[in-house]
Amino acid sequence: MGSTSKSGQAAWQRTHRIGLLRETDVDEKVVLNGWVAKRRNMGGIYFLDMRDRFGVSQVVLTGSEERIGWSMDEGEILAPEDVLSVVGTVKKREQPNDEMPTGQIEVIAERVEVLSRSRLAPFEIERDSDANVELRLRHRYLDLRRPDMQEKMIFRSKFVGAMRNAFLEREFLEIETPMLTRATPEGARDYLVPSRVHAGKFYALPQSPQIFKQILMVSGMDSYFQVARCFRDEDLRADRQPEFTQLDMEMSFVEEEDIYAVWEGIVGDTFREAMDLELPSTFARLTWIEAMERYGSDKPDTRFELELQNLGDWAKDCGFGVFEKAVAGGDRVMAISMPNGAEHFSRGAMKALEKLAKENGAFGLAWWKPGLTGGAAGPVAKFMDGDPGARLLQTLGAKEGDLVLFSAGSKELCWRVLGELRLHLAKATNLIEAGKWNFLWVTEFPMFEWSEEDQRYTSSHHPFTAPESWDMAGNPAHMASRAYDLVLNGWELGSGSVRIHRADVQQKVFELLGIREEEQKAKFGFLLEALAHGAPPHAGFAIGLDRLVALCLGLDSIRDVVAFPKTLQATDLMCEAPSTVEAQSLKDIHISLESEV
Ligand code: AMO
Ligand code: AMP
Repeated sequence: MGSTSKSGQAAWQRTHRIGLLRETDVDEKVVLNGWVAKRRNMGGIYFLDMRDRFGVSQVVLTGSEERIGWSMDEGEILAPEDVLSVVGTVKKREQPNDEMPTGQIEVIAERVEVLSRSRLAPFEIERDSDANVELRLRHRYLDLRRPDMQEKMIFRSKFVGAMRNAFLEREFLEIETPMLTRATPEGARDYLVPSRVHAGKFYALPQSPQIFKQILMVSGMDSYFQVARCFRDEDLRADRQPEFTQLDMEMSFVEEEDIYAVWEGIVGDTFREAMDLELPSTFARLTWIEAMERYGSDKPDTRFELELQNLGDWAKDCGFGVFEKAVAGGDRVMAISMPNGAEHFSRGAMKALEKLAKENGAFGLAWWKPGLTGGAAGPVAKFMDGDPGARLLQTLGAKEGDLVLFSAGSKELCWRVLGELRLHLAKATNLIEAGKWNFLWVTEFPMFEWSEEDQRYTSSHHPFTAPESWDMAGNPAHMASRAYDLVLNGWELGSGSVRIHRADVQQKVFELLGIREEEQKAKFGFLLEALAHGAPPHAGFAIGLDRLVALCLGLDSIRDVVAFPKTLQATDLMCEAPSTVEAQSLKDIHISLESEV
């Protein structure tokens, strides 16, 4: 690498981006920096595909070019993934390639310098890789070099940038909150960080900026947002990483409607800017109870119908003992009927549906393929002959050729079983139309859930969520909250609520959650005190950015939009975290391990 010229540019440094060369650059002298994607030797002339973040261009080595750091000798030739500087002239191609954005041109090399050599990559760096996922994660730097991954990262950056602008345009302040903090109860386990200075004490990494953003409202920092990293030690799935990013926000002197309107505007602006897509100016809404009753889920996929129906009136004297008994005992009988569903599900396929029902807690799966001309099928078909069957068809609005699936039990069981079956039926029969963006607010979540395991109430959202009425009269089991979720195509995208801004109400909620006074003081004393120093009414919301970006790109897993993701076992395969540490490091932070591991 030669000396630097007066302009500050070394001879090897690029003048142009490889992937941005076009016909308008013909006859330009250019310097390109990038990786060798492919090489072809055509009778002594070398064609290189050279790659940078912007794309690929063809470089031609005629043999007369100056070679620095390589030769044509064995062991010295250019290899895939070597890093080069090429000085050359852009020429129009004799045989253009219309599939490539740079396909009209090629670069005739005059000087080719190797800036860095590459070992043989353990998998090919190409758009679609069928290499094993673990291998790709272990060599994430190579995986990220694939055009497909580069495009995902570029899209994410553009998307987050657009969203950030949308907030700034609305006079929001971007404020950072601490990573080393106290636990915030969001329902998961905390990642703890031992203190060196304070023996036996620990920081917690934030599960969200929840308490800090509320305190910012008390501080008068009205309208805050942050691209916030959150940490949760919980069971991982395709849509959950142990650390993930929220677009977190909070506003003062607002209620639900204000938050909905702000987000509808911001998501609309972001989609227009980053996706060139126009969304409706407001999003659909369902209350939590409507969502559960109609879709069996608090994050319903409303891109297709197949709604749940409550069959109590029909079931109470339908002639099938199991159903009659369920209704008599205060339980439910519910069903979904799928138009023309019978033909899609053979006996074998019905077994798979039954298995899914059982996995979700059902005793079995009663189903019926109505066949008025004598072809009825299913374990309950024999009870449907004549009047019960006719009445059921009328109740369901179903007909011969449809498929009816039943669930009997508590309403929660029926929701869960039929909610899952509903999703399965839609996927199995391709009911979901591509290109739909069904944003949906789910509102009025219950305030508390009863935990059988802990024998106490837990918060449905988090303990800072306002109850429907400030006096909190009535049975906690039936109390509604002012929490809302935003759902997109059946994914929970984000959550928020109107908050408790009154110390007395906050204390009462803590009490109902079984958090005694001493514990309240120890864990949340600072919050209660802040609330007692002039807290404005406030509300907020946080969206899971990884999930939103994954959905925008049509991906099933958020791992593909996180540069350095963790596995389902919460490990980083590339840097091999978590790892053991030296004995002295443990000693410094006053930790002794129970046993040598
Ligand atoms: P909540 O806990 O619902 O609310 O989180 C908000 C959103 O964050 C995303 N999310 C995750 N994404 C990836 N991996 C995870 N492990 C993970 N956990 C959550 C989801 C979720 O909807 N403080 C409140 C917000 C508020 O009330 O303002 C909160 O954190 O998309
Ligand atoms: P049985 O008459 O007990 O053989 O039941 C007939 C059908 O109803 C079988 O397919 C059972 O799996 C199903 N079934 C029994 N109990 C329930 C229930 N609580 N909910 C849904 N299906 C049930």
